[in-house]
Amino acid sequence: MRQKILVTGGAGFIGSHTCVELLATGYDVVVLDNFSNSKPAVLDRVRQIAGRDVIRYEADLRDRGNLERVFSEHAFSGVLHCAGVKAIDEAQRNPIKYYQHNFEASLALIDAMARHNVRRLVFSSSATVYGESARVPYREEAPLAPNTVYGRSKMMAEEVLHDLVSSDPSWHIAILRYFNPVGAHPSGLIGEDPSGVPSNLMPHICQVAIGKLPELGIFGHDYPTPDGTGVRDYLHVVDLAEGHVKALQYIFNEPGLLTLNLGNGRGYSVLEVVRAFEHAAGSRINYKFAARRAGDLASYYADAARANEVLGWRARRDLTEMCRDAWRWQQQNPNGYE
Ligand code: UD1
Repeated sequence: MRQKILVTGGAGFIGSHTCVELLATGYDVVVLDNFSNSKPAVLDRVRQIAGRDVIRYEADLRDRGNLERVFSEHAFSGVLHCAGVKAIDEAQRNPIKYYQHNFEASLALIDAMARHNVRRLVFSSSATVYGESARVPYREEAPLAPNTVYGRSKMMAEEVLHDLVSSDPSWHIAILRYFNPVGAHPSGLIGEDPSGVPSNLMPHICQVAIGKLPELGIFGHDYPTPDGTGVRDYLHVVDLAEGHVKALQYIFNEPGLLTLNLGNGRGYSVLEVVRAFEHAAGSRINYKFAARRAGDLASYYADAARANEVLGWRARRDLTEMCRDAWRWQQQNPNGYE
């Protein structure tokens, strides 16, 4: 009998790549997704890649009746909680939505887990919880001071998980703080499919390359960085997915709470990403310099040592591979999943 894992948000960018890795490793996967920012067709692609299907439920985590049903119908060995909303500017305009989807939904999930005696959880957090005060490279013990609603919604969920473990040591929890996941599965069958004009860098570049957008605006070129453009820690989404499986396997045997950065451990500027993409795609990207984006930091990247020490995980795929795979996905799916 295979162990069964629940993946919330399993049809999303990170969730879908993680489902592929879980299936390849030999787990059965149940996906719970409200498809608010993803399409059911994603899961057909996951089956195409993995050669095995996931069991799917379309429901919101805050719908307690449905959550109860999912937990009654399956005995889970663990839960990967990837569901959430993540648009910084929307969060500033609509904090209630963000606290509902990132905080209240997480509470509903762990409540159901406790009632059904499922106490192994991997939680998707973000490097954005560090905020402006932390020193680069970010280490996991840096103080948290997120400067956005989105960051606070993730931090609040993290705090609940800390309290949970303090109150009941039978919980096994890993908090994964993602840096900037990009790229796509090398098959080109699954990738990032943002709705509307993409706010993140890599999907925006891809849409310029395919001709859907006229140019890339580079937000600021007067930052105190080597070329003046913002520096981030980009990592390949398949590396990230592998990190989830390793974290899950680690917490199976280790109680308590483990917090890990998942990043490359080095920063790339916007211009470096543009150049790498041009090289991978063999075409030029139109860009112009624009004003800084509110809330952006100049430069941050992970100290990724702990994930390596504890899990033996490190990001193995380089920037060229990230760009090549993102571009393959875009070319094969010019309109995303449609
Ligand atoms: C953003 C969010 C972050 C979230 C992450 C994942 C902000 C301030 N931060 O991170 O909280 O966890 O997405 O969704 O929104 N850039 C351009 N032109 C563009 C797009 C981006 O120059 O059209 C630059 C940005 O200024 C930044 C870099 O590219 O320097 C990466 O941007 P992005 O992909 O949006 O990621 P973050 O800002 O790191």
